Amino acid sequence: MIILSAKKLCKTFKTPELVKILTDISLEIHAGESIAITGRSGEGKTTLLHILGTLEPFDSGELMIGGKPFQARTASKFRNARIGFIFQAFNLLEDFTALENVLMPARIARKPFDRKKGLELLSLVDLVPRADFPAKLLSGGERQRVAIARALCNDPDILFADEPSGNLDHANADIVSNLLFDLVRSSKKTLILVTHDMELAARCDRKFSLSQGKLV
Ligand SMILES: Nc1ncnc2c1ncn2[C@@H]1O[C@H](COP(=O)(O)OP(=O)(O)OP(=O)(O)O)[C@@H](O)[C@H]1O
Ligand SMILES: [Mg+2]
Repeated sequence: MIILSAKKLCKTFKTPELVKILTDISLEIHAGESIAITGRSGEGKTTLLHILGTLEPFDSGELMIGGKPFQARTASKFRNARIGFIFQAFNLLEDFTALENVLMPARIARKPFDRKKGLELLSLVDLVPRADFPAKLLSGGERQRVAIARALCNDPDILFADEPSGNLDHANADIVSNLLFDLVRSSKKTLILVTHDMELAARCDRKFSLSQGKLV
């Protein structure tokens, strides 16, 4: 089953200057597959990931997710229910605890606060002892793990991960990538990953490289 399909997606940023980022990006991703997107800094990997994850609009082309065409009107609801995002800069809420951060997608979906569920999510990333620490007191590796647990909160079909090991030392990068791949395998999720790390990319079923606006 094809879970995500992109046809001839184009993207240009118009402010502060005209910058053509993506030209005619086409891609089909099957459910349960893992995909790596590599490429030099500034090539547009984060932009592409945000477009595929419905966080960023595109100029032309088609995007189908879960068999339905992308619609701006319903995107946020769909995203919250079906998509998990691990951001390049984590995007944790600094004054909220690790537990509150992992439960944020549930809160956005107006589900009642569920501490037990939060602790279960934190136990997946081995962070129960930090449950009640505000995010600002966590180390880089711990933040990354909170961001992974948060992405799993609403049990999404597709996980998007932007440089999930990019900010970590080698040992922590290994821990985080093992964790991510174990979680993806055990729960049969689709993973779309952006990385500079060739070892991490090699663990994915398919690899693409983004260069001069094209995916090869
Ligand atoms: N909102 C925006 N408006 C204008 N230009 C932007 C905007 N967002 C990104 N860009 C530009 O688009 C280019 C691609 O950015 P993007 O963050 O997608 O790159 P990347 O491949 O993820 O890089 P890195 O590996 O460093 O994370 C960059 O040159 C950036 O300056
Ligand atoms: Mg990036």
